[in-house]
Amino acid sequence: MPIYDVSDAGVMTLAGHDVRDLVVEYGSPLIVLVEDDIRSRCRQYRGEMAGLYPRTRVHYAGKAFLTTGFCRLIQEEGLGLDVVSWGELETALAAGFPPEHILMHGNAKTYRDLERALEVGVGRIVVDNLSEIERLAELTERMETTAKVMLRIAPGVKPSTHAYIQTGQIDSKFGFNLNGGDADLAVQRVMEFPRLELVGIHCHIGSQIFDQDPYALAVDAMVGLYAKIQKEYGVPIDELNMGGGLGVLYEKRYGGSGIEEHVSMLCRDVLDAAKKYDVEPPLLYHEPGRSIVAHAGVTLYTVQSLKKIEGIRNYLSVDGGMTDNPRFALYQAKHPVVAAEHMNDKADVVWSISGRCCESGDMLQRDVLLPDLKPGDLIAFLSTGAYTYSMASHYNRVAKPAVLLVSPGRCGLLAARDTVEDLIRLDRIPSWLEEVTDSKL
Ligand code: LLP
Repeated sequence: MPIYDVSDAGVMTLAGHDVRDLVVEYGSPLIVLVEDDIRSRCRQYRGEMAGLYPRTRVHYAGKAFLTTGFCRLIQEEGLGLDVVSWGELETALAAGFPPEHILMHGNAKTYRDLERALEVGVGRIVVDNLSEIERLAELTERMETTAKVMLRIAPGVKPSTHAYIQTGQIDSKFGFNLNGGDADLAVQRVMEFPRLELVGIHCHIGSQIFDQDPYALAVDAMVGLYAKIQKEYGVPIDELNMGGGLGVLYEKRYGGSGIEEHVSMLCRDVLDAAKKYDVEPPLLYHEPGRSIVAHAGVTLYTVQSLKKIEGIRNYLSVDGGMTDNPRFALYQAKHPVVAAEHMNDKADVVWSISGRCCESGDMLQRDVLLPDLKPGDLIAFLSTGAYTYSMASHYNRVAKPAVLLVSPGRCGLLAARDTVEDLIRLDRIPSWLEEVTDSKL
């Protein structure tokens, strides 16, 4: 099912809202998230896992998209949350998200990150490296508290996805390598600190993965280690977190979610591995981000200018770009594009969509077929709910767009558009520049 409908006038509607009205009210560019779609994907994950596996937890990976209002939605759907920084943690806390259902990741957690996590009592800290074990031991001692920890393991699996989002291979900045003894060393080190309670192990092999085989390999490696920790080290760990990573078919407008298939294979693989290594099936965590929120998102842009270079390229420049969606610039990611007010018109012009920033790399898409558009027309990029707003920047001091949550009959902001005050809020003028005393203008 496409995320949008088309009105008789050929205009895109989202949850019954005419996109032209949304832009008039909330401005352009505008990121719109369709609430029902997000909720149904949360339910698919939870329902599917609960139906196939004895004990499961689904934690939404906040890095895909996170605001206080979004935390509320995630909480309502019964998903835990995974955060990677103090900022994401504070966002969740500000929303009233229960800290015991928060899991903290990160390969370079600062004292501030860890101290705050301990102070509020996050459910699990996923320890990434030996320095962090020392740091956490020191902090728990100083704060006279304890921490439930999972060890992040790099199982030595390399999924086929963009190199920037592979994370489970040996040459990775993340986690303890399984091969070569790092993982064993980590277990032994954690065991030396009574304030650190080792409860489980974690891996995340990468993102935007479609092939199930690397997951199967990772499951085998992880359950093998799980059994070893229980049997050889005598630590009664009970939890296995297989991360997130399920891919989203950006090229296809109506792609299915793939959630059922992915989850059922993962659950089956873990159950099989538990049998093979002769352990009770662990409490199984899943940490999806993209597959929860990507398809729900539509970014609306207004065409600002056209430049047709005969025989070479037709540029169509919009009022946003890499500042609200750096995914093409970073990974050459292809989001489908449609002419939001001319949905039924013939798409017979090849356009390259450029952003408004002062650099040639600020492209949103190359060579897409759209109707012959003109300045003022709206275009829509589909499946932009994940890793767009959360990776937005203020390059060129471009304001970040608003993010709007829409449902039939109602809509509400998840994030307001930046104002001029927001853009200069953190600027300071050093005392000796308070007055311009020597203007050479
Ligand atoms: N768990 C951990 C530890 C992760 O590092 C990630 C994503 C996830 C879960 C969620 O993965 P997902 O289900 O969303 O694939 N900016 C890139 C994606 C970076 C993903 C980073 N880690 C992009 O735009 O494609």
